[in-house]
Amino acid sequence: MMPTDKRIAVGADHAGYRLKSFLVEHLKKNGYDVDDVGTTSEDSVDYPDFARMVGQKIADGQSDRGLLVCGSGLGIAMAANKVSGVRAAPASTVELAQLSRQHNDANVLTIGARIVDESLATDILDVWLNTAFEGGRHQRRVDKITDIERGKRE
Ligand code: RB5
Repeated sequence: MMPTDKRIAVGADHAGYRLKSFLVEHLKKNGYDVDDVGTTSEDSVDYPDFARMVGQKIADGQSDRGLLVCGSGLGIAMAANKVSGVRAAPASTVELAQLSRQHNDANVLTIGARIVDESLATDILDVWLNTAFEGGRHQRRVDKITDIERGKRE
């Protein structure tokens, strides 16, 4: 796996803690500069807190990409998408991960630790990190997402 955008912020809630720890090791082995915002155990926490921290690192330009893990991958995506500039995509298949980069220029990947195992999560992450945005007609559509975020009226 060749690094593309090397600075990656990573976060999880209690349900995603174990899978996050596994994926952090994988990222480090592959040369990524990992900024792990927690959580640090399986004690119960609230996923929006970690989604916010990772999202803000993307918005501030401190990280190029984000990885978030919760039980389903859903709540943590919803929360991250409230941060301006974040396009978080929940992916439970390799194809979804690939499409979220090619068509949507997703800058945050979310994974459900209760949905996928370590092996599939690794494949999803690797494909997501190594797939380029296709631009073109997709750029126009992504720009329209940004317009909505900025409250731009038709
Ligand atoms: C925690 O039990 C669970 O609700 C959370 O990890 C996530 O799946 C929410 O979307």
